Amino acid sequence: MSPESTVTTATIEVTDALHDAEWWRHAVIYQVYVRSFADADGDGTGDLAGVRSRLPYLRDLGVDALWFTPWYRSPLADGGYDVADYRTIDPAFGTLAEAEALIREALDLGIRTVVDVVPNHVSDQHPWFQAALAAGPGSAERSRFWFHPGRGRGGHQMPTGWVSSFAGPTWTRTTNPDGTPGEWYLHLFTPQQPDLNWDHPDVRAEHEDVLRFWFDRGVAGIRIDSAALLVKDPTLPEVPEAPGPGGHPHLDRDELHGIYRSWRRVAEEYDPPRVLVGEVWLADHRRFADYLRPDEMHTAFNFDFMARPWDAAALRESIETTLEAHRGVGAPATWVLSNHDVTRPVTRYGRADSSFDFATKGFGTPTDLELGRRRARAAALLTAALPGSLYLYQGDELGLPEVEDLPRDLLQDPMHFRSGGVDPGRDGCRVPLPWSGTRPPFGFSPTPDAEPWLPQPDRWATLTVEHQSADPGSMLRLYRSVLALRRDPELRGPLRWLDLGPCVLAFARGEHLLCVVNLGADPVDLPPHGEVLLVSAPLDPDGRLPHDAAVWLAPPPATPTSAPPDASTEAPSL
Ligand code: NOJ
Repeated sequence: MSPESTVTTATIEVTDALHDAEWWRHAVIYQVYVRSFADADGDGTGDLAGVRSRLPYLRDLGVDALWFTPWYRSPLADGGYDVADYRTIDPAFGTLAEAEALIREALDLGIRTVVDVVPNHVSDQHPWFQAALAAGPGSAERSRFWFHPGRGRGGHQMPTGWVSSFAGPTWTRTTNPDGTPGEWYLHLFTPQQPDLNWDHPDVRAEHEDVLRFWFDRGVAGIRIDSAALLVKDPTLPEVPEAPGPGGHPHLDRDELHGIYRSWRRVAEEYDPPRVLVGEVWLADHRRFADYLRPDEMHTAFNFDFMARPWDAAALRESIETTLEAHRGVGAPATWVLSNHDVTRPVTRYGRADSSFDFATKGFGTPTDLELGRRRARAAALLTAALPGSLYLYQGDELGLPEVEDLPRDLLQDPMHFRSGGVDPGRDGCRVPLPWSGTRPPFGFSPTPDAEPWLPQPDRWATLTVEHQSADPGSMLRLYRSVLALRRDPELRGPLRWLDLGPCVLAFARGEHLLCVVNLGADPVDLPPHGEVLLVSAPLDPDGRLPHDAAVWLAPPPATPTSAPPDASTEAPSL
């Protein structure tokens, strides 16, 4: 093929992909945590120039879209989830012009962009909050937030006893200009993240304007932070012991749906319509699916699946419940193995308790990283074969483990500090990516003497992009193969379960794919099949799938006279 025709084919593919208005139903969306992705200016913090320089890497990985965690101006009290100005890029990351260039350049490579919107709260440095503090009790400025007098004598007690998702109190007391103690304000997260009052028309209008600001710049969608927390019961009751549906004072309140319906209308003013992706942590599948009704969000992260242990019955139950709940509203499921808030899968799956729970992270418990890596490889094949869209957190394609031995004095996550140092926090999954070379900063920063904002372990030399690109058995090469195969629309047929025993997850996708995952300790026989398309670990000499491994198979050829399958076929990815 001549170079010219290669270019033409690539251009056609890019254009076709970008014309697919339903792309979000099956996309692979890669999460970029900008601070830790790539640092172009050498200050040890990732930046937009760094991302732009690595766009070809993302194209070659085979992702359809990038979700950027907040890149706006922020004091970084919570890694950027404390936004001071939505229309400005934080100077540590770059400029608005660079963000616009990045969005364009990614699109030229067929990659869409999703930005993070954080509607529950703003930074305490946001002009609205500063104005509210200055204006004092009873002012119009304060009514955009939840300012309230305290309870008890002298108002010394918090207005409610609500507990923060980051542990500790949810109210902070202000000081009046004359030095006396003043009102309290609500913050479900840190005191630097005051909650907005979504009953206020300014709050609604401002957010719709922010959406348009970014939609006008060509972003394909938004990820909605803490999407089920925005609305509060204005009577500020305590949290009941067992709140009924919609009965929690600050979680999953029915009034939220009106907000997302109005956002959907804004998204649909655009051609192609922009996409809403919700961060909705809810145990109730039916209430979760309510957010995905046709006039609300398009998709939401499936944390139920992510939190499950490496156990066939538990995962199958989650998959079935998920698919059923989504079917009811016509929305695609999402499959998520991790993000910037949770323990990396390689570490999680290497522990005796491989489930995820913020309250019990298993920090310091014995971890078999080899086993964890093996399972994470199998999980990659499993999640990529399931119907719906797939989220991939930066570094998971490299099989990075959680860094659990970061020096305590370098930790930055408020979750760590607010737990009194008990919770390790989330810094361990936010360590800058290793790109190349044999010692830190591993090509993350352009110069060898640069110091990444969190130190990378020396042992990451074998986990760099450079190293893994040259190793056919690496996690990176596996992900590239999986994502390349997954692009084939023929693999998107209906899911049909196969019964291969209690420790095995096995299913067909239409007529073109069989996926088998062995979560048990013993090897399992494969079902009748054609070509072995991809394996996460080599089949054993008898052609069986070993423990903690997954395989993608072509179904058996239709003709009964065809040769029996050669089970020992080497899979191309290894
Ligand atoms: C969820 C985000 O993913 C997390 O990083 C952040 O700390 C909280 N929301 C608060 O914005």
